[in-house]
Amino acid sequence: MQRGYAPFLYFVAVLGLEAAMQKECRIIEALQNKLTYQQRLQYMKHYFPINYTMNVQFEEVLRVANITRLRDQSVGELSLRYLWLSVNSQVLLKIWAVLPEKHPSWEYTRDLCYLFEQLTEEYENYNQGNMDANVWDVVEQLVSSDAGSSRKAVYPKALLDNCVKVMLMLYSESCK
Ligand SMILES: *[C@@H]1O[C@H](CO)[C@@H](O)[C@H](O)[C@H]1NC(C)=O
Ligand SMILES: *[C@@H]1O[C@H](CO)[C@@H](O)[C@H](O)[C@H]1NC(C)=O
Repeated sequence: MQRGYAPFLYFVAVLGLEAAMQKECRIIEALQNKLTYQQRLQYMKHYFPINYTMNVQFEEVLRVANITRLRDQSVGELSLRYLWLSVNSQVLLKIWAVLPEKHPSWEYTRDLCYLFEQLTEEYENYNQGNMDANVWDVVEQLVSSDAGSSRKAVYPKALLDNCVKVMLMLYSESCK
């Protein structure tokens, strides 16, 4: 390689990463605007039957405590974001799947699914192959299993509350 070329490539790579982060932050901002407490309450609780719960896998309940624990085990931030993204993409698709098209939460949930899909595309372009092995294992289990995995009844709003809390934890530093 010619001299002087490597720093240039490095510079391009950094620019690429920064552009990706900005794009990611724009999606996070859109998610934040759609996931305010009022909207979660209205679309995920008031529009559902009283005490309605979803049957989800244990791995689909991703709380702040899970992230704290994984950080203590030195799992990288990219992996943690990928975990959050994978869990919540799947959770939202499950919520969407129980809604008939005329349901007042249908469009709201579809829009959230779409934002998560966009975010997943960003990740797959930039961050593939950099995942911590234990996060990979959880994600694999998440998307492949179902039948064998233990299940838990959870309120849809509680699932989205977790989604928001973990999102703030993972992104408030890098997306101001
Ligand atoms: C909903 O759950 C609450 C708390 O567990 C309970 O007190 C209430 O009776 C339940 N309502 C219905 C309609 O099942
Ligand atoms: C989060 O922690 C709970 C136990 O507190 C566990 O059942 C669940 O599988 C963990 N979720 C993930 C995605 O690691």
